[in-house]
Amino acid sequence: MILVTGGAGFIGSNFVLDWLANNDEPVVNLDALTYAGNLSNLESLSGDARHIFVQGDIGDGKLVGELLAKYQPRAVINFAAESHVDRSIHGPEDFIQTNIVGTFRLLESVRAYWNGLSEADKQEFRFLHVSTDEVYGSLEANDPAFKETNQYQPNSPYSASKAASDHLVRAYHHTYGIPVLTTNCSNNYGPYHFPEKLIPLCIHNALAGKPLPIYGDGKQVRDWLYVKDHCSAIRRVLEAGKLGETYNVGGWNEKANIEVVNTLCHLLDELQPRIDGESYKTQITFVKDRPGHDRRYAIDVTKLEKELGWKPAETFETGIRKTVQWYLDNQGWVKNVTSGAYRNWLEKQYQ
Ligand code: NAD
Ligand code: DAU
Repeated sequence: MILVTGGAGFIGSNFVLDWLANNDEPVVNLDALTYAGNLSNLESLSGDARHIFVQGDIGDGKLVGELLAKYQPRAVINFAAESHVDRSIHGPEDFIQTNIVGTFRLLESVRAYWNGLSEADKQEFRFLHVSTDEVYGSLEANDPAFKETNQYQPNSPYSASKAASDHLVRAYHHTYGIPVLTTNCSNNYGPYHFPEKLIPLCIHNALAGKPLPIYGDGKQVRDWLYVKDHCSAIRRVLEAGKLGETYNVGGWNEKANIEVVNTLCHLLDELQPRIDGESYKTQITFVKDRPGHDRRYAIDVTKLEKELGWKPAETFETGIRKTVQWYLDNQGWVKNVTSGAYRNWLEKQYQ
């Protein structure tokens, strides 16, 4: 049995679905169901005894202690976080609370549980912390891609809070011997991506006839990875990663934002053309830049490829086509998540 936190969010729910599609080891899924948590992502598991969902906070030591004692997981995989950079700029408090204090409390619960395990179980146990490439800061156009040895230079409240959580995880290994692993992944995209992030937001707005907002000059570069490839990387690191080590995860897919949005428009023009025959590109609108906007992220994934033999299955071209098709086929899901709270956020951000 494994304990997954944040398993009703974008990557967490893809991970739970993938995990149970690949093996029968049960999953306890602890998620607070914030605005980003969506149980309908896991609808296909309803009635499946291998999936146990518990609504709760990673910072609730009593609840987490009880879950660990009851289910005796061999691993904890921590996805739970506040994840949207723009929200962290408008209001950093929740990011400090969940990403830093929450991770600290989760580590404390895990430490107490791990101390009570037999020597054999202690050695088998893993705490895998899911983190981001944003902790390394921003690259210039000609800089080499981020390696695991790059200095941490987080620039937003979100990335600073993730960096702090990474440091705590590292310290719990060094000081207490907890068997930890950390993954630092680039930008994910794919099914169940909440439509506040660039790719699902632009698909949603395109179909709704709304502007496709591009921050600044649109030449900021991100390194995109299909979410299911991130899930397979996490499974591989859990299986074979060296204790205390960090692994960068990415798809060697650097793209400028404007290029990504042009690709989305091109795919939508092909798969669901506008009634007036115009391209969705006419909806592209340049808007005020994100404060402190990081210019470029790029991940060097050599360590994961060479040491653990991992490779992504999708190229950007195959993954983005699948993603656009998924959104076209799942407009009901999009409608469900565009709740009142989400609409309020859009008004605040793009007023
Ligand atoms: P998300 O915002 O879609 O989902 C986060 C989930 O965590 C939600 O289900 C939410 O309800 C839950 N959650 C939030 N606070 C909680 C708390 N205190 N206790 C329990 N559950 C809580 O995020 P995501 O995009 O799926 O990201 C998952 C993880 O991967 C995060 O740690 C993020 O930093 C990291 N990451 C994301 C990306 C990306 O491109 N999305 C890339 C690299 C790393
Ligand atoms: O790099 C990994 C990170 O990727 C994760 O750690 C974060 O959780 C995840 O949200 C993502 O962060 P980004 O800030 O890169 O993702 P976002 O989709 O918000 O933005 C992608 C790029 O597009 C970024 O350069 C900002 C830009 N953008 C975004 C939005 C929402 C726009 O130009 N317009 C927009 O409306």
